[in-house]
Amino acid sequence: MERLQKVIAASGYASRRKAEELIINGKVIVNGDVVTELGTKVDPKDIIIVEGHSISYEEKEYYMLNKPREVISSASDDKGRKTVVDYIETDKRIYPIGRLDYDTTGLILLTNDGDFANKMMKPSNNITKTYLAKLDSILTKEDSERLLKGLVIDGVKCIPDRVKLKDIDKKTNRCLVEISIHEGRNHEVRKLFEKLGYDTLKLTRIAYGTLRLGNLRSGEYRPLSKGEINELLQLIKKEDN
Ligand code: URA
Repeated sequence: MERLQKVIAASGYASRRKAEELIINGKVIVNGDVVTELGTKVDPKDIIIVEGHSISYEEKEYYMLNKPREVISSASDDKGRKTVVDYIETDKRIYPIGRLDYDTTGLILLTNDGDFANKMMKPSNNITKTYLAKLDSILTKEDSERLLKGLVIDGVKCIPDRVKLKDIDKKTNRCLVEISIHEGRNHEVRKLFEKLGYDTLKLTRIAYGTLRLGNLRSGEYRPLSKGEINELLQLIKKEDN
């Protein structure tokens, strides 16, 4: 049994607060009866209708996938390309939390818990994501410092939390840079390097909040443990939970 407002929020229909408002305002019907009491408990067999929309209540699943290149970060693709969801064996309607570019590899989370996904994706939650970028030339110390001071991308100042030169290949004149950001704007890492004249040849997300990609191989996935889910939730400010 689960509290009604939690189930509505978990379906992704509304935030927890909005779900509470909907209940109080008589917009929620459970098994044919209007329910206005917060904290009413429901179970998966109950039929829940919110503002005329039926809400599905299914067991929640949480996965981490090592996304391969040339895979779309969405639940479906109108051009029939492979999506991150195709890698996960489940009968639940899961979807990715946020996006990685078609050519970016690495750690991506998938779930059918809309409430959890919204919390993770809220821009103000400041979850740090770490990437390993292979650049077409060697990042100079000056450019590294310019990055750390922040650069304006699409009119918004983006300030990486950390930039670290990990490896230099003098023969090919390429390098590997570890960069941590918390904003998560579209193509943010590639744009940051592009702004300084570097082309990102390869990009892999190696960490998301408290999670590390570890030794998951390309295309492999695993469920998150309860502890890992709680650690992620604890990264978010208390009042948002
Ligand atoms: N930044 C990018 O440029 N691409 C990604 O896929 C993720 C972050």
